[in-house]
Amino acid sequence: MITAEHLTKSFHDGEGEIRPVKNVSLEIPNGQFLSVVGRSGSGKTTLLKMLGGLLRPTEGEVLIDGEDLYEMSDRAMADYRSNRIGFVFQEYLLEEAFTVEQNIEIALMIAGTAEKERRELITNALEQVGMEHKRTTKVGVLSGGEKQRVSIARAIVNHPSVIFADEPCGNLDYENGVNIMKLLREQCRQGRTVVLITHNRDDALVTDRIVTLKDGAVVRDEMLG
Ligand SMILES: Nc1ncnc2c1ncn2[C@@H]1O[C@H](COP(=O)(O)OP(=O)(O)OP(=O)(O)O)[C@@H](O)[C@H]1O
Ligand SMILES: [Mg+2]
Repeated sequence: MITAEHLTKSFHDGEGEIRPVKNVSLEIPNGQFLSVVGRSGSGKTTLLKMLGGLLRPTEGEVLIDGEDLYEMSDRAMADYRSNRIGFVFQEYLLEEAFTVEQNIEIALMIAGTAEKERRELITNALEQVGMEHKRTTKVGVLSGGEKQRVSIARAIVNHPSVIFADEPCGNLDYENGVNIMKLLREQCRQGRTVVLITHNRDDALVTDRIVTLKDGAVVRDEMLG
């Protein structure tokens, strides 16, 4: 269970203070497929980063199974980031000059996984996203849909319990977008929690729950199905 309690984020820019996330409280049960929607600038990415341990809240707490994420030791936090969560970004964040395999392997090396196990985990992740045949291809020559499948493979390679995906279908055509949504649903079926940011109402409608943000606050929280 991920629990956000009264999360607020403030930034100071030249003009003064802005607060992209204001007093957000949420409970995300294990295994839920949750989507976060809202206009551009409504605070979705800022919220996702705070939930995923990438951005310290100005106020409030994120509890992971009751443990305060931002009070963990540096070591526990590093372990959380590399073993318990996976991130998928709209812009893929892959190294174009490296092969598919190398891009995924980086995540495993950071996690300290031994070589033989790395090979097996990479095979398994690539099979899940249907990209095993491109294992030794350089990422730079892949199509957008293929790149996004590789970035999902990288996110799931360590069998994380939670996947955070920030508009993973934003740069894809309809068919590739549908495929990515199916992959995320499959991850959920395997017991993982998936938190997805999307602009696409059709994508949100296939998840279990839609949380709508407006000006940094939750204005709607609907259970589907
Ligand atoms: N590091 C930062 N410093 C200053 N302002 C920031 C910072 N990060 C985000 N913001 C501001 O916070 C607001 C919310 O940004 P955020 O990226 O969370 O929006 P979003 O809902 O993800 O938008 P989009 O749909 O366009 O991705 C924006 O006005 C943005 O400019
Ligand atoms: Mg965003």
